[in-house]
Amino acid sequence: MSLNNQLPMQWEFIISKLKSSVTVVDATSPEFPLMYVNEHFTRLTGYTHEESIGRNCRFLQGTDTNPETVSNIREALRKQQSTKVEILNYTKSGQKFWNELNIDPIFNESGDCLYFVGIQYDITERKFAEEQLKLATSLAEKTSRGQLEFIGKLNHELRTPLNGIMGMIELAGMGDITEEQKEYLELARQSGEALLHIVNNSLDMAKLGRGKMGVEHIEFQPLKLIQQIVKTHELAAMNKHIRIFCHADLSIPDVLWGDPLRLRQVLDNLLSNAIKFTEQGEVQLRVDVKQRSHEKTMLMFSVRDTGIGIPSHQISQLFDAFTQSDISHARRFGGSGLGLTICKELLELMNGSITVDSAEGKGTEFHVTVPFRSRQSIFNAG
Ligand SMILES: Cc1cc2nc3c(=O)[nH]c(=O)nc-3n(C[C@H](O)[C@H](O)[C@H](O)COP(=O)(O)O)c2cc1C
Repeated sequence: MSLNNQLPMQWEFIISKLKSSVTVVDATSPEFPLMYVNEHFTRLTGYTHEESIGRNCRFLQGTDTNPETVSNIREALRKQQSTKVEILNYTKSGQKFWNELNIDPIFNESGDCLYFVGIQYDITERKFAEEQLKLATSLAEKTSRGQLEFIGKLNHELRTPLNGIMGMIELAGMGDITEEQKEYLELARQSGEALLHIVNNSLDMAKLGRGKMGVEHIEFQPLKLIQQIVKTHELAAMNKHIRIFCHADLSIPDVLWGDPLRLRQVLDNLLSNAIKFTEQGEVQLRVDVKQRSHEKTMLMFSVRDTGIGIPSHQISQLFDAFTQSDISHARRFGGSGLGLTICKELLELMNGSITVDSAEGKGTEFHVTVPFRSRQSIFNAG
């Protein structure tokens, strides 16, 4: 006898021994009763062969089974289509399990649907792991949101008395005081300013972290803004005997649309860092038009210094929160270590980017690229 002649018998035997659950339903009977279940189905569900045959498979469902999934199956069967669902089922002893159910219709040569074949996988473990992960993620998100909110509130509370202290220091300096007292007041003022800077930075970080920081699209004059920015750093550079100068591309448009305040915040940060980390030489701000079309103008701002430079192994974490190239730098030069992170995040909000080139002992150059809308595009859009 050839193997082929034995095939129908062999198939049933093979399917009965499969390690997946297989079910066959009579598609010609309106109640869709089970006409075959393999051994694995009886092990998975706890229902014997006799207890299953002749019944509709819905006996596996219970109170927590999602009715929407059930109605999706019903719809697929009505249309005689294949379907794949994840459905919560119950064993005979009432134990819940997640069932990945695949159903296929089987048609005869005349196109009549005679059977539905179902294959069931127990995916309880995977579902459980997914649930755990979801829970852990939402918990972590909630916690970090709560922390950021707390930091925001705390810093807000700190800012008010700090502003009061700064005001009083200024008033005290106006009175009739000795040189020594003047010196003490100046030190107090510097410390207050450093603290205010940290508080402002962490307020920004908290806002950025909660997605509360917005960017504006207002008209501004780029050249005027650049001049103003450089001017505010002249005194600090002069005090350290460093030359500070600016080179701006002549083809920069007179007017652009964007967020001048945020741009200023970024450039202020880079310039004050450049001055802070430079003992001798110069700090230069260069502004070039990188790309220009009717719609937008891409500007590139380069801040170059002849300072101590950044060790190459520390460059990759430069824009991460709470890192400062070397902890001793932080102590020596002050700062919250948040400035560059804020710059990067602000630039991302403005669709811009920031990169850095540095050579230890020679200097550092930051390149900031920001797209701005040209005036024409606004009028065209309107
Ligand atoms: C071949 C086949 C296997 C099925 N296996 C299961 C199953 O393991 N678990 C389940 O909850 N439903 C299963 N069903 C679905 C139910 O039998 C039923 O079709 C579904 O509950 C929707 O119909 P109803 O609204 O009449 O209950 C299967 C259906 C077919 C056709």
